Amino acid sequence: MVKLVGKRIIFIAVFISGNGSNLKSLIKNFKNNSKIKISLVLSSNSNAYGLVYAKKNKIKNKIINYKNKNKAENIILNLLKKNKINVVCLAGFMKILSKRFIKKFKKPILNIHPSLLPKYKGLNTHSRVILNKEKFSGCTVHLVTPALDSGRILSQKIVKIRKNENASKLSKRILKQEHILYSKTIRKFVSNL
Ligand code: GRF
Repeated sequence: MVKLVGKRIIFIAVFISGNGSNLKSLIKNFKNNSKIKISLVLSSNSNAYGLVYAKKNKIKNKIINYKNKNKAENIILNLLKKNKINVVCLAGFMKILSKRFIKKFKKPILNIHPSLLPKYKGLNTHSRVILNKEKFSGCTVHLVTPALDSGRILSQKIVKIRKNENASKLSKRILKQEHILYSKTIRKFVSNL
């Protein structure tokens, strides 16, 4: 059998719940990439603005009803299998994937988090960072494991906090860095698969 080394296309599914600015930048950055294809977008929220980007770019997209988590995760697992997804990228996905899901999917799941992990896991990172008078914050791309925001760190970008900066301003500046870091990290990660 001919080995397709170097020619294999990596199919990515992006999971969102909200604005989808990270999704937008991933779509833009991988549009002309012959090796990486964003072929599925899943949203836990029917009003997620990110769905607009998927539709605009004719990417298969589905809304997942999370009323029953187990059922929702089974539907997702089927979709990932059916669409031959190699890597899942979480981008503002507001649901926690269960241990069972991660075990069953078996393939890598990446997440982008708006803090310098292991500091400030969870939500409202920017306001906590400001409240604690931190000098630096940033963003982290990491592998997803059953423990929240705790998987192996793949990359980080440090952002220096400005004098009198509020959480909203900081979040905007960090988000810009997220858009650069996530694509860069995925590209590198995928090249080692
Ligand atoms: C980002 O700050 C990301 O780090 C976090 O959720 C936010 C999602 O933003 N996990 P968007 O939906 O990509 O604009």
